Amino acid sequence: MNKRSDLPSDLVIREFRIEDYDILLSLWNEAKLPHKPAGRDKKEEICREIEQTNAVFLVAEKEGVLIGSAFGTHDGRKGWINRVAVSPKWRRRGIAAHLVNEVEHRLNGMGIEIVACLIEDWNEESMKFFERIGYKRHNDIFYFSKRRSPDT
Ligand SMILES: CC(C)(COP(=O)(O)OP(=O)(O)OC[C@H]1O[C@@H](n2cnc3c(N)ncnc32)[C@H](O)[C@@H]1OP(=O)(O)O)[C@@H](O)C(=O)NCCC(=O)NCCS
Repeated sequence: MNKRSDLPSDLVIREFRIEDYDILLSLWNEAKLPHKPAGRDKKEEICREIEQTNAVFLVAEKEGVLIGSAFGTHDGRKGWINRVAVSPKWRRRGIAAHLVNEVEHRLNGMGIEIVACLIEDWNEESMKFFERIGYKRHNDIFYFSKRRSPDT
């Protein structure tokens, strides 16, 4: 993928560090990204996940300020993109596309050839974003899950 000309030139894409946790949650709140701070997004859970070899948790930083995130994992068979968010001030500059592209690239490097994401039905913006960056929408698949608690 070619870099967009309006992508901030001083944008840094780097791995998420647990010290970023509080700022990351502020970003997700600012971005109105649905997340589970009392469940799978709690600090201990994220801390556990980033230790796994299948985690590609990236953030975008501009002048030391965290302005974007994209988390990837794989289950050995498929890659999954999660928690893509960009600060409202920095949208439509190609930052999310750049982050997701980098996550895909790293997952591909781990031998993963298909990457997928789940999007809630109200989130048209996110659907448009993923379609724009090459993801195919499947109207014939329904998501089923079994949870140990609603926060999971
Ligand atoms: C979805 C989101 C991550 C996109 O971030 P972004 O950095 O603005 O996205 P990009 O600039 O990389 O967008 C690339 C392309 O996707 C499409 N796109 C992105 N946001 C769009 C929107 N709101 N409406 C329509 N198309 C959109 C456009 O085609 C865009 O290219 P263009 O700006 O040249 O038209 C951001 O809007 C966000 O943080 N939303 C809230 C959190 C969220 O819902 N995350 C997804 C959870 S599944």
